[in-house]
Amino acid sequence: MNRVIVSGGTPLTGEVRIGGSKNAALPILFGGILTGECCTFSDLPRVSDVLRALEILRFLGARIRFFENKDVSVDYRGIRPVLPPARLTGTIRGSTYLLGAMLARFGEARLGEAGGCDFGGRPIDQHLAGFSALGAEVIAGDGVYLRAANGLTGCDFTLKMPSVGATANLMLAACTAQGETVIRNAAAEPHVVALGEFLREAGAQIEGIGTETVRVFGGSHLHGASHRLLPDMIEAGTYLCAGVATGGEVTVTEVRPAHLAALTDAFEEMGIRVKSGTDWMAASAPHGYRNISMQTAPYPGFPTDLHPQLVSLFALGGRATGEGRLRECIWQGRFRYAEGLRRMGADVTVSENTATVHPCLLHRAALRSPDLRGGAALLLAMLATRGESELTNACTLARGYEHPGEKLSRIGARVRVY
Ligand code: EPU
Repeated sequence: MNRVIVSGGTPLTGEVRIGGSKNAALPILFGGILTGECCTFSDLPRVSDVLRALEILRFLGARIRFFENKDVSVDYRGIRPVLPPARLTGTIRGSTYLLGAMLARFGEARLGEAGGCDFGGRPIDQHLAGFSALGAEVIAGDGVYLRAANGLTGCDFTLKMPSVGATANLMLAACTAQGETVIRNAAAEPHVVALGEFLREAGAQIEGIGTETVRVFGGSHLHGASHRLLPDMIEAGTYLCAGVATGGEVTVTEVRPAHLAALTDAFEEMGIRVKSGTDWMAASAPHGYRNISMQTAPYPGFPTDLHPQLVSLFALGGRATGEGRLRECIWQGRFRYAEGLRRMGADVTVSENTATVHPCLLHRAALRSPDLRGGAALLLAMLATRGESELTNACTLARGYEHPGEKLSRIGARVRVY
């Protein structure tokens, strides 16, 4: 997927079935390395970041099978502690999970380069400090080499911030450490909880997942497991925004509404009507909505991965009223989409990590997607704007959205994907 052509201005209405969570799939796929056996995954999203993770695992020696019912099995028996090429690891952030998983399984881990969306810097100092507290020797040069010749020992480690990646990586490494590891100020995102649940299904002893103190009792034997991925809350939130942006009503199905409580609160404050049942949600604002002031925060706060999409809603003249402000508290460099919105005529200024928006009528444009969620934000603006727009570098969207062209077409969007 390189290019999306959008004929915007049509209200999007209908149901979208939400796929498995990308940000859960990545640590879980690499976490399977700890089992050294075969694991089967249901609802594994076919997004490019996940396919790339499978390619890395195959390079390391895993055997991957895709079943007709869409399950995927990964046989981890052949995995060897070799350095995967940077051309594979350098494209996804999730490759950092190789560090915790390989260290736990083999007592050593190597990673040349990790990638992911470019938000300026994406440090992993907390991951490394945690590995070091577990007793690993950390040798940083061109990449990272970890070594724990005498095994890992449980520790009490406090993260400087509730990092998703560092919490997941330390949970992985701690599974094979001697004794108990306490991870304080841990991230509580649903995808971190999902990793903990998968590890428990595989035999690990972990308590406190989803709270700020996670305890891992190391040394259990991990075995193969079957795991169903939880629904992707960011994919769900993005489609709900698409319905609201276009004056339609999108229902997302097979979701966990509780994971989207922060978006629901924001929508309700904006006067957007939200309906939900056990496993579905719908949002609509037929007469428009008012802008608000928001800030992103670790879960259960408003997710940074829905920030650009919300700013797009703020920008839409004819739909939004009043000044909108969004302060980004996780990724300072997450405003690259703002230039694209401005090229569509939006009044968006960014200063001190805050986007300030006054809605005005947008016009069609040809834009380049800056990153995964920034691209989604631009696509939302294009869907809501009359005329034919074009989004290039659309492969960035494919990193985290499964079949976006088909899903959007089914709810009435006029899109062509090349
Ligand atoms: N941080 C450090 N040092 C560290 C780790 C993190 O300073 O060692 C800082 C980061 O710079 C950032 C904050 O802590 O300011 C949070 O980073 P976190 O580690 O939580 O992010 P991540 O694990 O690299 C994951 C998701 C991102 C999502 C963030 C925050 C994956 C593969 N990526 O990244 O998802 O934005 O958590 O929720 O799980 C996306 O899907 O579009 C995406 C970017």
